[in-house]
Amino acid sequence: MLVLGIESSCDETAAAVIEFGIKHDDGDGCRVRSNIIASQIETHRKYGGVVPELASREHLEKIGGVVQEALRSAGVRVAQIDGISVTQGPGLVGSLLVGINYAKAMAFAARKPFVGVNHIEGHVYSVTFEFPPPQYPALALIVSGGHTNLFLITEPEKYKLVGRTRDDAAGEAFDKVSKLIGLGYPGGPVVDKLAQQGDKRAIIFPLAEIKDPDHRLDFSFSGLKTAVLRHVRDHNITPATDPDNASQEIRDLCASFQNAVVRALVRSLRKAVELHRPKTIILAGGVACNIELRSSVRHLAEEAGIPACIPSPIYTTDNAAMIAAAGYPKLLRGECAPWDMSADVSIRLQNVDLEPANSKRKVRYRI
Ligand code: KG4
Ligand code: ZN
Repeated sequence: MLVLGIESSCDETAAAVIEFGIKHDDGDGCRVRSNIIASQIETHRKYGGVVPELASREHLEKIGGVVQEALRSAGVRVAQIDGISVTQGPGLVGSLLVGINYAKAMAFAARKPFVGVNHIEGHVYSVTFEFPPPQYPALALIVSGGHTNLFLITEPEKYKLVGRTRDDAAGEAFDKVSKLIGLGYPGGPVVDKLAQQGDKRAIIFPLAEIKDPDHRLDFSFSGLKTAVLRHVRDHNITPATDPDNASQEIRDLCASFQNAVVRALVRSLRKAVELHRPKTIILAGGVACNIELRSSVRHLAEEAGIPACIPSPIYTTDNAAMIAAAGYPKLLRGECAPWDMSADVSIRLQNVDLEPANSKRKVRYRI
């Protein structure tokens, strides 16, 4: 089955063609026929973050070319595609609508089925291309610019949200701290790079502790961001003007801040592993590019004797291959979205209720 994936939830316009159901000795596999990503980073960099109006306009300019390029480099015509999978949400409404309407128009013109998928579920499916199918239950830590969620996946497509951020997403914390110390947007890659030449023990930032026993796997990063701000003020740290010439003070700050984020993420993941005894650990989302996070999660998984699926950076940041993979099971079942399907910026992924250990209450989160 050939699936065309389309992603436009934030600042990447992406399209991919994936061939599913390729027979191998050890089961079905897939092949990435194309994976095209047009990044808008340069547009938003000067504003220090994503500007929604500019993002949707640029998606509109690029979507046609990106989809055509995905088909061309896959060597397939629209008529050969079996279905289209597009991100329905969460994300920026104007940006999402560009991808959704393009997908609908193509589906209508070419008489193909189309399905809408949850962007976060897309990140979970980013493990499809480089790893054997996950064993269940699996634990997935999805860390990006907009989300920090820990899911227990009891079986394919069954998600329990067991941890989430109470405030900022981990990637958002990287972006805000980076801006504060003059390193610009996006913050993750540059902080990661400078942290490699810094001393992570230079500043000991405290980790937020969630006291509520029902939510002890949750995260909080806004206090850490404030602690960095206070440190910068108290020590009169001059923001960098050029990351390549950043002072040792800035490099140490990057290393210490990054280490605090990684410790917080891994601490919850460790607790979740002890509590839920998963058979696979998945790490995905843009922050999963972070070198220290990747090695800490790998280390935790090795200690626990569980395989870790941590995709290459091309699949952990926003891409359409993961959207095609998340849509494939739906298309295989013969699902097709109605023509009035629209963007859903607050779409939920949780579809298994959480039953807190010490309470009869059922908790539903919005993510
Ligand atoms: O998944 P993604 O591409 O888009 C969203 O869905 O948000 O994630 C983007 C986020 C940004 O906040 C960016 O700063 C962060 O991922 N990021 C990183 C690294 N590379 C990207 N954070 C930490 N270390 C990195 N190497
Ligand atoms: Zn994302």
